Amino acid sequence: MPPPSPSPSGRLQWADVPPPLRARLETTLGAPVTEAVTPSGGFGHQLAAALRLAGGRRVFVKAAPDDEPLTAANLHEAAALDALPPYAPAPDLLGVHRTAGWTAVVIAHLDGPDPDLSPASGDVEQTWALLDSLTAAPAPASYVAAVSAAPSAAGLLHGWKELRDDPPDDLAPAARSHLPRLAELEAAWPALATGDRVVHGDLRADNMVRDHDRGVTFVDWAHATTGPACVDAASLAPQLVLTGHAPADVARLLLDHPATAGSPDTTTAFLAALTGHWHRNARRPAPPGAPGLRDYQHRAAAAGLALLNHRLS
Ligand SMILES: Nc1ncnc2c1ncn2[C@@H]1O[C@H](COP(=O)(O)OP(=O)(O)OP(=O)(O)O)[C@@H](O)[C@H]1O
Ligand SMILES: [Mg+2]
Repeated sequence: MPPPSPSPSGRLQWADVPPPLRARLETTLGAPVTEAVTPSGGFGHQLAAALRLAGGRRVFVKAAPDDEPLTAANLHEAAALDALPPYAPAPDLLGVHRTAGWTAVVIAHLDGPDPDLSPASGDVEQTWALLDSLTAAPAPASYVAAVSAAPSAAGLLHGWKELRDDPPDDLAPAARSHLPRLAELEAAWPALATGDRVVHGDLRADNMVRDHDRGVTFVDWAHATTGPACVDAASLAPQLVLTGHAPADVARLLLDHPATAGSPDTTTAFLAALTGHWHRNARRPAPPGAPGLRDYQHRAAAAGLALLNHRLS
């Protein structure tokens, strides 16, 4: 079989999955697949598709070859989904199948679009409320055990030190004037990254679905971990700036929200590390199979910087 190639959208397709794995999934699910719909969101190149089965039932499947790091990420997501507490806004894990050198993770299908995070939408308020209830209490021991196998990624989130040491000509003046402080803040983040709360770790509109029955639900738990309560709320903040919220309004929300209000230093250090990561990575060559990623990082970098300017002034 020729090596699978990313589709124009950047994603592997159902037809790229080795036939023995497709057959195993159809046997387990009890019906042939009649349609595979690839969502437009996200940047990954693995299979991520809503499968419709004969009879009408739908399931969501993520699959990749075992020699790709994506499979380890999918297995981590499966372990997290299986152990999340019932109050977590997440779909159920339905199964994990390994055949022909590939692994597929089958997840309950959510029916609806990505939430609308623009200022006029009620989805934003619902998302903040979800983050409040998700982080109000320590994560259960089963979840802590399930996600503990993955090494901490906190040290990978940085960029300001490199930009301080060799500032590019196009660096925004607002960043240039704060470079030493931003480098100091991101350096502080790894030591502050420990905590006992559930952390989704990659909260953006395309990692959520507004399900017709459940409302806003978080998907793509591949980066799930434990950490301080502020991480997901601080990750959401630049996403809101990207969808039209005034940075001053979002900065005020971070000062008030239960997940972030009690830990201003940790929140600022995380936001600095995340924004530094975007500023650094946006300038790197585009990786294959992820169209749009660098453009997104440029925009996210500007949004994060706008929030940091409120927190540093
Ligand atoms: N359980 C689900 N039901 C329906 N749609 C889903 C479900 N999970 C994810 N999606 C949709 O599929 C898209 C891709 O899924 P997901 O983000 O999990 O894949 P990924 O390959 O890990 O993505 P990324 O590009 O973020 O790396 C999401 O943006 C979302 O729109
Ligand atoms: Mg995703």
